[in-house]
Amino acid sequence: MSDKTSNPRKHYHLFDDENLDHLYFDISKNGEIDANKYSLYNFTGDPKLEYAEWESRMDMMNSWFTDMKSENRFLYERESLNGSKVVSQVVDPETKEVREMLNFASNDYLNLTQDTRIWEKVKELSPQYGGGAGGAPLLSGTMRVINELAEKIAQMKGMESAIIYNSGYGANFGTIAGLLGHKDVAIYDMFAHASLIDGSRGANKKFFQHNDSTSLEKVLKASQNKYINKLVVVDGVYSMDGDIANLNEILDVAKYYGAWVLVDEAHATGVIGKTGCGTLEHLDLEGKVDIVTGTLSKAVGSIGGYVTASKRLVNYLKYTSRSFMFSTAPYIPSIIAAKEALNLITEQKAGVDKLWENIQYVKERLTAAGFNIGNAETAIFPIIIGDDNKVKEMTYKLHQRDIFVNPVPYPAVPRKLTRVRMTVTAGFSREQLKYALDEVEIVGKELGVIPQ
Ligand SMILES: Cc1ncc(COP(=O)(O)O)c(C=O)c1O
Repeated sequence: MSDKTSNPRKHYHLFDDENLDHLYFDISKNGEIDANKYSLYNFTGDPKLEYAEWESRMDMMNSWFTDMKSENRFLYERESLNGSKVVSQVVDPETKEVREMLNFASNDYLNLTQDTRIWEKVKELSPQYGGGAGGAPLLSGTMRVINELAEKIAQMKGMESAIIYNSGYGANFGTIAGLLGHKDVAIYDMFAHASLIDGSRGANKKFFQHNDSTSLEKVLKASQNKYINKLVVVDGVYSMDGDIANLNEILDVAKYYGAWVLVDEAHATGVIGKTGCGTLEHLDLEGKVDIVTGTLSKAVGSIGGYVTASKRLVNYLKYTSRSFMFSTAPYIPSIIAAKEALNLITEQKAGVDKLWENIQYVKERLTAAGFNIGNAETAIFPIIIGDDNKVKEMTYKLHQRDIFVNPVPYPAVPRKLTRVRMTVTAGFSREQLKYALDEVEIVGKELGVIPQ
């Protein structure tokens, strides 16, 4: 790396084993690391960072944040005063005023976080159990209501048994980490969620092209006789793309090569399937996959995670999955809420039909306007732009029009596929959707995302 200190740049020492090197960043007119020139990858993913002291790493990231904030382009951590309601009261970071924004940034697909039937159930049963579980599940944290929830979920997924974790992240991470030894391999769809990928840290992992069973077959063929156990890992509904796993073909190929299959149902439960039970019900594959995981935090409107499988595997995971063994059982009112929510979904289709009406309308409007929404087919709509700055600009302009969406820059998705992510929930009226989509279209045209 050559010395470029003559330019107005920030530089940081790198303690390379061989020599003292530097990392340079262009600065903006604010004297900070130029927010428009760098992405999160530069401060969290670049391998050179390993050679920087913690102080330098913190300074780089904070300087970059400061630049974004001074341009009012820091689009994260928006503070809401009323939860994830369809009309959210969000504090404007610039003026500190409270804005009423249409919430297209939440995964509360059925708006069950706001459902009073669920709160009534929580009020009725909480006095019996209290709040926290007070212990890890294998010790004192196993409560009847948690076991009842596990039974309900296993039944919904067509499985024998289930374990409840205190987050979906913990369920995914702990299941994969608990299964994979050094002679095993996890084979991921390249768009699989981070919580799944993190489970194989330090273990063997491979990737196949998104939803492509031919690509999976190539990877499995190349893995034959190299590993003792192979686990194919997919999302039922992809969190950044909203498309559904090509599970029939993936299962056929995996089974042919003797691999197990894990499906993460985070964005599928409560959204697809005739009674809202998720991908396996939707594709008529109940009981056909080896492991089904998920979260209670999206359409279920609570917090917590789950893993369902055969009784034998569940017993094994209870004593090998460290995020289960060494972590306190979930907060009990959240379990009561999740159980009631699942009853409402499976017995009364709580909001599912309305959600689908809204999904159809949004899909028609975005498609007709000419946006690239990939293969979106559920409640998640990516507006694919492929330019980080335009993604930030579109998000900012929509926030200014009281439409709350999320930017998804690189490295959350590949550079060419950076996007604005819009999620639809059941509670939107047609008028609210119409207003939002008219504005999305206007901003899309202004920024050249779609033709004038
Ligand atoms: C696909 C997917 N799996 C797992 C998780 C983690 O779930 P939780 O938020 O309950 O930790 C998420 C999102 O947060 C997700 O999108």
